[in-house]
Amino acid sequence: TDVRKPLVAGNWKMNGSIALLNEFSGYFADKREFDCERVICPPSVFISTANTLMKPLGFAVAGQDVSALDEGAHTGDLSATMMAEAGCQYTIVGHSERRTDHNESNQLIADKAKALLAAGVIPISCVGEPLEVREQGQEQAFVADQLSALFSTVDLNELAQVVIAYEPIWAIGTGVTASPEQAQDMHAFIRSAIAAISADAAARIRLLYGGSVKPSNAEELFSQTDIDGGLIGGASLKPEDFAAICQAA
Ligand code: G3P
Repeated sequence: TDVRKPLVAGNWKMNGSIALLNEFSGYFADKREFDCERVICPPSVFISTANTLMKPLGFAVAGQDVSALDEGAHTGDLSATMMAEAGCQYTIVGHSERRTDHNESNQLIADKAKALLAAGVIPISCVGEPLEVREQGQEQAFVADQLSALFSTVDLNELAQVVIAYEPIWAIGTGVTASPEQAQDMHAFIRSAIAAISADAAARIRLLYGGSVKPSNAEELFSQTDIDGGLIGGASLKPEDFAAICQAA
């Protein structure tokens, strides 16, 4: 797994403030010894503040969503070029909350990923099944279906750059984490699906686990063969928890 640098991204969702960014920059000011890549995904109105406060401390800054469209008459939306210009190295697409709140389809999410890649921004593309699908044992088919639009839309030679985050919906914000075995099984499945397209991409692509990652379970999750880091929600809002999770990667 040496080819894949571990990555820990904090998805603040619709939480946080400039005050919280100030708290983070104070907390991390004397803590720079991490082996993983660290990313902070604040609400987009705070991206510029996050650049100022967190980039000098070794963090990359990311958006939580982007439009698949080019600049134009789309009030309230942000283009991939704008995310790049705003200094985002990464941007999340297809989070389950956006799939639910905004009815986002697999194809729309794939189009967003493609637009980001064209703008030089790395997509963190999220997949994950609801509880009833897992109870029926259909989680692999469900995730394969979510990924197929991505695989057919993104250029094959750009696929390895994409980061895929597996977030089982039943584990998001619930305190119920997937067991390391459940997470590893799905990550191995995703990597094998990529290997069927490109062995090279499968070896290089980073797969993150998300869903109730906390300091107490991060190390065991991240030590799994096919888990290359995490996408962290609630615990990314507390600097000491986020630091502990980064330490585990
Ligand atoms: O994107 C991260 C996320 O959905 C997981 O949230 O609060 O369960 O860590 P949480």
